Amino acid sequence: MVEPLLGWYQENRRHLPWRENREPYRVWVSEIMLQQTRVEAVIPYYERFMERCPTIASLAACEDEQLLKLWEGLGYYSRARNLKAAAQVICERHQGQFPSEYEEILALPGIGAYTAGAVSSIAFEEPRAAVDGNVLRVITRLTQDSHDITDAKFRSEITADLERIYPPEGRGDFTQSLMELGAVVCVPNGEPKCGECPLSALCGARGSGTQLQYPVKKKKADRKIEQKTVFVIQFQDKIALRKRGDRGILSGMWELPNTDGILSGQQAAQWLADRDLSVRTVDGGQQLKHIFTHIEWHMTCWAAVCENEGGDPDLIWVTRAQLENDIALPTAFKKVYRAVRVT
Ligand code: ADE
Ligand code: SF4
Repeated sequence: MVEPLLGWYQENRRHLPWRENREPYRVWVSEIMLQQTRVEAVIPYYERFMERCPTIASLAACEDEQLLKLWEGLGYYSRARNLKAAAQVICERHQGQFPSEYEEILALPGIGAYTAGAVSSIAFEEPRAAVDGNVLRVITRLTQDSHDITDAKFRSEITADLERIYPPEGRGDFTQSLMELGAVVCVPNGEPKCGECPLSALCGARGSGTQLQYPVKKKKADRKIEQKTVFVIQFQDKIALRKRGDRGILSGMWELPNTDGILSGQQAAQWLADRDLSVRTVDGGQQLKHIFTHIEWHMTCWAAVCENEGGDPDLIWVTRAQLENDIALPTAFKKVYRAVRVT
C-alpha cells in the first residue's frame, strides 16, 4: 500500500497551513487542535494561534486567560492548558528545543501515542505511525478486520503493524497520506469513494462489498442528560460571571451563573433574590441544548436586569466589551448569552 498511497498523496493532498512548514512546534500544535476538531474549523484558529504564539517560549509565557481566549470555541480546553504546560517543560528541560526522541515527546503533558507518532514522523521523519479514527477506518476496511476499534490494545497492534512497513523516505507523508485518505476518500459517513481510491485493488472490503461493515465500534453508552437553569444577569453595562470549580466538565472555565434543575420564572426570581440581587425584570425561559462528549445540558435560560450587584461573592461582574475581547466563555454559555441577551 505504501507506493500507491504516497503517489496519490503527492497529487491529491490538501494544502493546509501546517503542511507547508513542518517545524515540530507547528506540527505539534496542529495535531493537538485536530484531535477533536475538523480541519476547516481548525484552520482559522491555527493561523491566529501561530500569530500570537509563534514560538515555544511565547506559548510558555502566554497568560492563561489569553491562551483560553485563543482556544475559545474549540472546546476540550485541557488541550490548551496541556500545550502550555508542555511548552514550559520544553523550556526547562530541553532548552526550548522541541525534543526529537519519541520517548521524550511521549513524556510531554497532553501527548499520547497518537500525537507522539504524528510529530515524530511528520516533523522528524521517524518511522512512527499515528493511528486516529481515519486511519483505523482505512486499515479495518482494507483488511476486513472486525476488532473493536475503541480497544486500545487493537490500536497499538495496528500502530506496530504499520510501523513495520514505513518507507525509508517520505515517512511524514506516509503518516499524513493515511489520515488524508480516511478524511477525503475512505470517508466516515456514507459510502467511501472507492472509485477514487489508490488502494482499491488491495482492499478486502471493496472486494466483497462490505465497506460499510467497517470499522466495528463498540456502541457508546448514551449521553447523560443534565437539566440546568442558566442566568444572564445584567447590572448597568455589566454581566455576572462565575469561575467553575477545578473538577469535572469545563473545570476552571468561566461560566454564566447557573443551577441544577429547571426553574420557573418565579423560582428564578427567588434564586436571584436569595443572592440579594434586586431584580427589575426577569424574562426568557427558553430551552437551549448543548452537547458534550458524554453529557447533554438541557438549559432553561433566564435574562435578568438588576439594580445592584447583590451579595454573592462568587459573582464577578464584567463589561460586555471584556466578555467579547478578553474572557473565554465556553460555547454552551455563549449560546445562552447570545440567545437571551438583554439590551
Ligand atoms: N487530522 C489529524 N492530523 C491531520 C493532519 N496532519 N492533516 C490533516 N488532518 C489531520
Ligand atoms: Fe476505503 Fe474503498 Fe479505498 Fe477500501 S477501496 S480503502 S473501502 S475507499
